[in-house]
Amino acid sequence: MDELNDFADPATDATSSHDVIDFAGPRAEPDSPVKPIIVVSNRIPGKRPAAGGLAVALKKVLGERQGFWFGWSGGFSEDYTDEAQFSTIDGLRIGGLDLPEKDYHGYYEGFANSVLWPAFHHRLDLIKIAEEDYDAYCRVNEAFAKALINEASPEHTIWVHDYHLIPLGRELRRLGAKNRIGFFLHIPFPGPEIFSAVPHSADLLSALAAYDLVGLQAQRDVEKLKTQFESATLPSVSDQTQAPPEFLPHSVDAFPIGTDPQAFRQLVGRPRAMRSEEQMVASLAGRALILGIDRLDYSKGLPERIAAYDKLLEKFPKWRRRVHMLQIAPSSRDTIEQYRDISEALDLACGRLMGRFAEPDWAPINYVKRAYPQTALAGLYRAAHVALVTPLRDGMNLVAHEFLACQDPEDPGVLVLSRFAGAAELFAEALLVNPHNIEETADALDQALAMSLKERKARWVACMEMVERHDVDHWAGDFLGRLADVPPWDAKMGKVQSGDKAD
Ligand code: G6P
Repeated sequence: MDELNDFADPATDATSSHDVIDFAGPRAEPDSPVKPIIVVSNRIPGKRPAAGGLAVALKKVLGERQGFWFGWSGGFSEDYTDEAQFSTIDGLRIGGLDLPEKDYHGYYEGFANSVLWPAFHHRLDLIKIAEEDYDAYCRVNEAFAKALINEASPEHTIWVHDYHLIPLGRELRRLGAKNRIGFFLHIPFPGPEIFSAVPHSADLLSALAAYDLVGLQAQRDVEKLKTQFESATLPSVSDQTQAPPEFLPHSVDAFPIGTDPQAFRQLVGRPRAMRSEEQMVASLAGRALILGIDRLDYSKGLPERIAAYDKLLEKFPKWRRRVHMLQIAPSSRDTIEQYRDISEALDLACGRLMGRFAEPDWAPINYVKRAYPQTALAGLYRAAHVALVTPLRDGMNLVAHEFLACQDPEDPGVLVLSRFAGAAELFAEALLVNPHNIEETADALDQALAMSLKERKARWVACMEMVERHDVDHWAGDFLGRLADVPPWDAKMGKVQSGDKAD
């Protein structure tokens, strides 16, 4: 193994930087007005490496406030327990709960990733409904609540993350929690027709009403959720209480997540990132690099993306031998059939393209199904002329943010971005495409490759302003600031019980 080859040391997390960026910032002083916080997500750092931007973002928030991160330990127990195991990882206090294996599968692979994930990404054709999976999903959420309530004090702000844990707030309320509890959904929220195809959708909607604040990635999602709240008759949150009538509209809003551009700027200057950039540039031999980095997921539009590149080479032969595409797609959730299928679909699409266009001395595409440390990725972002970020549907897409943050301001690359990613609401100056329209995406690739330096700079500056404005600190500060302003749960409940209904 070549020790200078930075790609020879794959990490298991393509988009997490916890191994290379020190996010353990200053801790809140005991008398600080900043409330201690409990962050809850299915995955916690440590046991199994995280994938996706969630871990990166939350680690930074926790580094700055007192409190802990709580989630599944990665381990299994014979039966449910309400005793979490605490440890300190990278200076962060982490509580992990073991779960019974059978219920974990029904909760994670079942309801969360075979119903909610496909449905919320507009893939009703991929959902697999099994009633027992919803039961397991609810039992796991109940177990999280029971274990968490033992550790939470009334001062804790509780911030619940993502679709695995929609019912958690309601379970905590049932156990008497009056804390400020916020929920942030990292994935898109669907419209009424699709949401109604999710089993127990009304129950899930009512569970969301138990939170003081629901945060979504994009304005499009907020409108969809509000419409459904407005037309729903919410069942009671517990046996005694009604959903608070003033829940809407002020407590559902868009909080677009971002990245840490400063950390990425520093990363590109690190020796390891510079070596990865140099190695990539050397292997390109003067060709332009088109880069894709995604978890191997059917929502990312990978076969469509390869087809668009295929179309580029067919329609614009001038680019043959002058470009190279690199797709990094670490495998993900591969115990689920649909994920094995998408992996095979990617193999087929890449093989077909190679068969059609490769020459003995030119490989039009290279794809790797491993993950790499963030430093190596930073070097690749920097080497890329074009980032092809074309999910069919995506909550935000932090790869778009990361690519922009890693560019050389004097010679920036071009972002080709799906208009169905939440990021499209921020990056109007990217080349926005419909990823289902193969020819349109191929044309955008041609435009990106041919773009003048002046236009590249102007577009990058406009996008970069949004990366800076919507960085991860702003996201967390905005969400937590809004949560702190919400009236305490007691006050809302008192209002409801006294019949003082809002309009
Ligand atoms: C998305 C989800 C996260 C999840 C990540 C990786 O980004 O929003 O909640 O952690 O994918 O998926 P995994 O199933 O491996 O946790």
